[in-house]
Amino acid sequence: MSKLFDVAVVGATGAVGNQMIACLEERNFPVKTLKLLASEISIGKKLKYKGKDIPVEVLSENSFDGLQIALFSAGGGTSQKFAPIAASKGCVVVDNSSAWRMDPEVPLVVPEVNPHAIARHKGIIANPNCSTIQMVVALKPIHDVARIKRIVVSTYQAVSGTGQKAINELHDQVTAIMNFREVETKVYHRQIAFNCFPHIDVFLENDYTKEEMKMVNETRKIMEDDSIMVAATAVRVPVFYSHSEAVNIETEKKISPAEVRELLDRSPGLRVVDDPKDLIYPTALDATGGDTTLVGRIREDISIKNGIVMWIVADNIRKGAATNAVQIAEILAEKYL
Ligand code: A2P
Repeated sequence: MSKLFDVAVVGATGAVGNQMIACLEERNFPVKTLKLLASEISIGKKLKYKGKDIPVEVLSENSFDGLQIALFSAGGGTSQKFAPIAASKGCVVVDNSSAWRMDPEVPLVVPEVNPHAIARHKGIIANPNCSTIQMVVALKPIHDVARIKRIVVSTYQAVSGTGQKAINELHDQVTAIMNFREVETKVYHRQIAFNCFPHIDVFLENDYTKEEMKMVNETRKIMEDDSIMVAATAVRVPVFYSHSEAVNIETEKKISPAEVRELLDRSPGLRVVDDPKDLIYPTALDATGGDTTLVGRIREDISIKNGIVMWIVADNIRKGAATNAVQIAEILAEKYL
């Protein structure tokens, strides 16, 4: 990559935005200029990129003039309004919110799974939901050889997925409890410290939550197979970073746990961490800070004929959000700009 690009991060002061800046730096993305955008409350803040302090600017309709790439992570409303404005000015948006993911005109991309979808972008590319990203990274290689018919997944999701305010809420609640103080609940409906609740995003008409239905619909779109049946239960747990998932799959063709281990270990973005006799399996702490999706506890689903059970863990802020967005931008920069 010899060309350099004028890049913006929208939502730069947030949990994901901050990590996007770090990923651009770590992966040595070909940045010519970097613009950091947030709301009025961030006026006066500066953030570091490659050792330099960059002042945060207030997002406006003129923010995208002269830019080629914008990474958005400032909530659905901001993306809904500003992504088309950026696109109309020739600045391609990689959007981490759910605003555009199911739009048929917008590619929804996990680079290990469907990088080819980037080719048909019309100015906006959507970054999938964090829980979906790590699941499809692990399931796509199996789908290719054995065809997955059905997925049943339960998630154990870190609070950082809700943003910086939720990270602070878990910290403050744990501190309050340890100091015999009253617990304050502001971000979530229920206490998150020393608790877990099966409620992520809003409840829908069918009694699933929006997060659970994102896993159903986004999995089909990314895997390009609407016949895959998915049932999800999304659970928030008192973990700061990295989501874990217990996943049962039913395949058309029989595949053994040994074959799955061998297959996943040589697939991109994945590492098998699975040796029960030595108590080896991946945990949230093992995945945190890395970009690899870790898979363990691979075993036969003994309740059905062709089934596998596994445990999938990844850093939700990195592979589940910032890294995936930067990987998309890398392909965009290399092939399509
Ligand atoms: P700010 O910090 O100025 O409010 P998180 O997901 O961690 O809560 O972060 C959300 C990010 O989105 C923050 O950087 C926040 O900026 C930004 N943001 C939220 N609303 C807006 C908005 N209306 N315009 C620009 N940035 C916004």
